[in-house]
Amino acid sequence: MATDWNFLQELVFNFGHQLATNPTQYMMEQAFAHHGLNWRYVQFEFTEDKLADAVQAMRVLGFRGGNCTIPYKVAIISHLDGLGESAALMEAVNCVVLREGQLIGENTDGKGFLQSFRGVAEPAGKRVTLLGAGGAARAIAVELALAGAASLTIVNRDAQRGEALTRLIADRTAARANFVPWDGQYAVDPDTEVLVNATSVGMNDATAEVALAYDSLRADLLVADVIVDPPQTALLRAAAERGCTTLDGLGMVVNQAQIAFGYWTGIEAQPGVMRDALQQVLQGE
Ligand SMILES: NC(=O)c1ccc[n+]([C@@H]2O[C@H](COP(=O)([O-])OP(=O)(O)OC[C@H]3O[C@@H](n4cnc5c(N)ncnc54)[C@H](OP(=O)(O)O)[C@@H]3O)[C@@H](O)[C@H]2O)c1
Repeated sequence: MATDWNFLQELVFNFGHQLATNPTQYMMEQAFAHHGLNWRYVQFEFTEDKLADAVQAMRVLGFRGGNCTIPYKVAIISHLDGLGESAALMEAVNCVVLREGQLIGENTDGKGFLQSFRGVAEPAGKRVTLLGAGGAARAIAVELALAGAASLTIVNRDAQRGEALTRLIADRTAARANFVPWDGQYAVDPDTEVLVNATSVGMNDATAEVALAYDSLRADLLVADVIVDPPQTALLRAAAERGCTTLDGLGMVVNQAQIAFGYWTGIEAQPGVMRDALQQVLQGE
């Protein structure tokens, strides 16, 4: 037998629910194959009371890290050995990395967004309005603040969630933050330079509209949406019609996967491989 055969794969995991429709598995394995890595991305669904055992199993079996998604992003923290800076601020983990024998929790949601954002604008000094205060909004708010955004206006229906995120940014980062309860059609403040939809409105529905006064969208605004499917949301179409620069959610999800790939393998994934894989999935090829 030739000596370069290796039948012992390196493994990474994904913990969550409803993983059969999660395209990250395909994106990762396409990238492993592209880079000639004998690695596997294995998804595990289990009941929430089994989380401690599942993390212990990953340690025993020598997994190099993994992802975790809803409902484990917060619950996994108490089973890890440490957290990266932004994961600690967000109190949420979506990526676990084995570093010097320790399982460290990171959060790549906001980092993926920021990488996309930097392709069109510099975040430092920006005045941002963020629609939503859930997990994605929290991640984006923290990364924009750490990257030097001047201010964040958090607009959310649920005041408790909105105020909690506003306090997190105001108290623990250098950015200014204020909360606006979302009641009726929201008109974007003329002082805002960047508008981000981080709500789930638009997910799987190209016609779903966020409750926004569209005539408040000025041509000099940068409008970003986190929705992956479909990438061209009603908000982004309306913004483009008004001359705004737009940023879709595809870049965010692909960048997150690329960042995680780099954390685990130490290799920078070639741009395009994961995006092509995701596009294949979205187009049902
Ligand atoms: N592109 C990417 O890489 C990426 C990454 C992560 C998530 N996402 C997407 O981001 C979206 C949000 O995910 P998440 O994890 O943040 O969910 P989440 O924690 O459940 O938060 C949902 C947010 O959407 C708001 N919302 C829901 N329906 C609304 C409506 N009709 N009008 C106004 N606000 C509404 C909620 O407001 P209340 O608090 O008032 O209920 C909350 O702020 C999902 O579509 C997800 O697929 C994309």
